[in-house]
Amino acid sequence: MANQDKIKELIDKRVQARLGGGEKRIEAQHEKGKLTARERIDLLLDENSFEEFDMFVTHRCTNFSMEDNKIMGDGIVTGHGTIDRRVVYVFAQDFTVFGGSLSETFANKICKVMDMAMKTGVPIIGLNDSGGARIQEGVTSLAGYAEIFQRNIMASGVIPQISAVFGPCAGGAVYSPALTDFIVMSKNTSYMFLTGPKVVKTVTGEVVTDEELGGAMVHGTKSGVAHFVADDEQEGILLIRKLLSFLPQNNLEEPPIAPCSDPINRLEDSLNEIIPDNPNKPYDVKDVIHAIVDTHEFMEIQRNFAPNIVTGFARFNGQPVGIVANQPAYLAGVLDINASRKAARFVRFCDAFNIPIVTLEDVPGFLPGTAQEYGGIIIHGAKLLFAYGEATVPKITIILRKAYGGAYCVMSSKHLRGDINYAWPTAEIAVMGPKGAIEVLESKNINQITDPAERAEYIKKAEDEYKNQFANPYNAAKYGYIDDIIEPRNTRFRIIRALQTLATKKDTNPPKKHSNLPL
Ligand code: HXC
Repeated sequence: MANQDKIKELIDKRVQARLGGGEKRIEAQHEKGKLTARERIDLLLDENSFEEFDMFVTHRCTNFSMEDNKIMGDGIVTGHGTIDRRVVYVFAQDFTVFGGSLSETFANKICKVMDMAMKTGVPIIGLNDSGGARIQEGVTSLAGYAEIFQRNIMASGVIPQISAVFGPCAGGAVYSPALTDFIVMSKNTSYMFLTGPKVVKTVTGEVVTDEELGGAMVHGTKSGVAHFVADDEQEGILLIRKLLSFLPQNNLEEPPIAPCSDPINRLEDSLNEIIPDNPNKPYDVKDVIHAIVDTHEFMEIQRNFAPNIVTGFARFNGQPVGIVANQPAYLAGVLDINASRKAARFVRFCDAFNIPIVTLEDVPGFLPGTAQEYGGIIIHGAKLLFAYGEATVPKITIILRKAYGGAYCVMSSKHLRGDINYAWPTAEIAVMGPKGAIEVLESKNINQITDPAERAEYIKKAEDEYKNQFANPYNAAKYGYIDDIIEPRNTRFRIIRALQTLATKKDTNPPKKHSNLPL
């Protein structure tokens, strides 16, 4: 073959490979409201930055006459490119080729980019859309999954791993996304479950649809599996790009500082008014967050799961931080199983990737009741406590209002190596709220009063006395547990100062193989 023909052959092969499963299947993909693997990669990466690997790989399966059915690329598009000019590795499952099902060679291609991402210390992004293990291959396909899982585990805490689920993701296949740091799902076109509706019906008799069992809304609200629920794939991909802007490339780097146009000493007068006089009245802690962070921008994570705690990324003077805030507007901001799990994982992520943690505290305590106790709130609450206590990144805490009981200890208190702990003058720091405290301390006296009006009067007086004594930040400040009591409107400036002074912070944990986090 003449050299020119060889070049033409290459170009033709590339055209062929880029078609994946062919025009018809691409059309079918579009009809379902889905993009193809290559369209997703194009949207994700900076223009013209994608360099593809392994375009000519084909499977080695000979069962079910598969030797006559080979498609270049084998159903997965892999390679590297840039997002905001920073390198990332990426793989995208191509549903048009054997339903995006995973073969031995398909898995090898993913493992190759995961290994490259680890060697070069850059994030890996997986775009999932697959019918699961390639049925014709059997155990080599299962082995391929396990090889990927092992790499997910080794990469955890070393490079950011982000998964998008833009189609089916079922059976053991769900575990690769589950092992990564963040999962993005698209509404109506994606689902994740271990066993599908047919098996569920056979085993439990329950009748459910894909969407009801494992759609984006289910994982965004009930299970907490999805960190972001996007209206469509385009939005999901933009979320990934934005998320990466807060993150370092790996655990040895600092997160990228962005230029900041927002004055560092901007006073927010509204914050002096935000806490209601009645301590039982809610307010929205997201108003506080938006008021203090750079240009009011906050990227919330797991927005609709356990909304009694708010987690997400923002910047102070360009410095990325993770924010954890109790939400008085939902269940009074109480800590329960889901809130503890959600915040614990977020704190650990921030700590692994050198992202300072800012905690805004207004928590009446842990949620009481059999449902919580039977569900193991002891262990789950301990996760959050453990995560804060183990974290060595800069930790800044602002107590806005309530800091009661165990929840005071847990929420990045001084005693868990909180670096700078401030309180607003509206803070109430005590073993428990006035109502509960008076019930315990005064029950004998209260029971002796038979007249209801007199009894109510007595209780009110006792509660008022308790409030005067404990419902303030000065007792804690007396012991140095609070470094200062700050004017609410000045919070942004005080946090920025605190971050600046903590920029050189060094802290370590004792040498060990690993901790035994209460899982
Ligand atoms: C091989 C597969 C496949 C698979 C789909 N295809 N899944 N080929 N192995 N697992 C092929 C189909 O034969 C079809 O080929 C094409 O992909 C598109 O599939 P359709 O069924 O036409 O598409 P759709 O109607 O959209 O349904 C998608 C689907 C369904 C819901 C994913 O295909 C399905 O239920 N697939 C099987 C899912 C499954 O049970 N997988 C195993 C899970 S267990 P043609 O040539 O007709 O276009 C598992 C274990 C992992 O994954 C363990 C890890 C530890």
